[in-house]
Amino acid sequence: MKLLRIAMFVLAVLLGGCKPSGPQTLKPAAYGTQIVEVSGGKQWAQVGSALPQPVVLQVNSADGNPVTGALVVFHGNGLEFNPPQTLTDSSGQVTVSVQLGFNPGDFQVIAETPKSGGGNATVNLREIALGYEQAVGKAVNDKYCIRCHDPESTPERVSNHDNLSPAPHQFTDGATLNRISDADLTNMIAHGGPALGKSPQMPAYAATLKPAEIKAVLSYIRSIADPPYQAPGVKYGK
Ligand code: HEC
Repeated sequence: MKLLRIAMFVLAVLLGGCKPSGPQTLKPAAYGTQIVEVSGGKQWAQVGSALPQPVVLQVNSADGNPVTGALVVFHGNGLEFNPPQTLTDSSGQVTVSVQLGFNPGDFQVIAETPKSGGGNATVNLREIALGYEQAVGKAVNDKYCIRCHDPESTPERVSNHDNLSPAPHQFTDGATLNRISDADLTNMIAHGGPALGKSPQMPAYAATLKPAEIKAVLSYIRSIADPPYQAPGVKYGK
């Protein structure tokens, strides 16, 4: 038994010794001048979980053509990337899955590609981690609100959005919703459109949802707003 343990120890050291020490950088086969988002920005998921869709980026040359074999390295405070770096495929693209950190709020995905003349081209994407209350709010939205407020249909749910006039806004529509106060939004969700002089097609939820659920859905709406919602009175340093 002892001999076996020694043998395994030696084997482990040998195998371990073959691994490169520290993070190894892949060698680019080509260089681009620009990196752009294909898809995957502005997604949200509960803190600590993976984003529902991967992030897909593309490296282009100066003349706008995709570059194969360019190195892309991902960074982001509190984020985990799989893989953390990779080379672009034959269509000039890379695909990475992103795991969110444990603080609710905004995260930045930063992707860099080295340019042939030196320096890096970068692209930044915003991703959103929902805290507990916001995740409760998302569940309320998925159950009650999304069928009217999201124009997209899925196999499980046919959107009612295009039958409504005036059309309700998507909850990501910060340009519209950021201007309406918490009090007014709460009032409208609880007592329906007419409470704010709006369409009676916006139902009243005071009898269906608990006040905490209305607060949660409002918190969810605020967290996914694009542009981001800034609570009145809060000043952000630049
Ligand atoms: C049956 C369709 C329907 C459902 C379900 C619905 N809404 Fe609405 N909602 C509307 C319509 C229509 C308006 C637009 C009213 C207007 O502009 O006159 C609206 C407006 C709103 C507004 C004001 C901003 C905007 O889009 O104009 C908020 C906030 C809102 N709804 C929240 C919710 C929440 C939260 C839920 C789920 C708890 C929900 N709605 C469910 C139809 C719906």
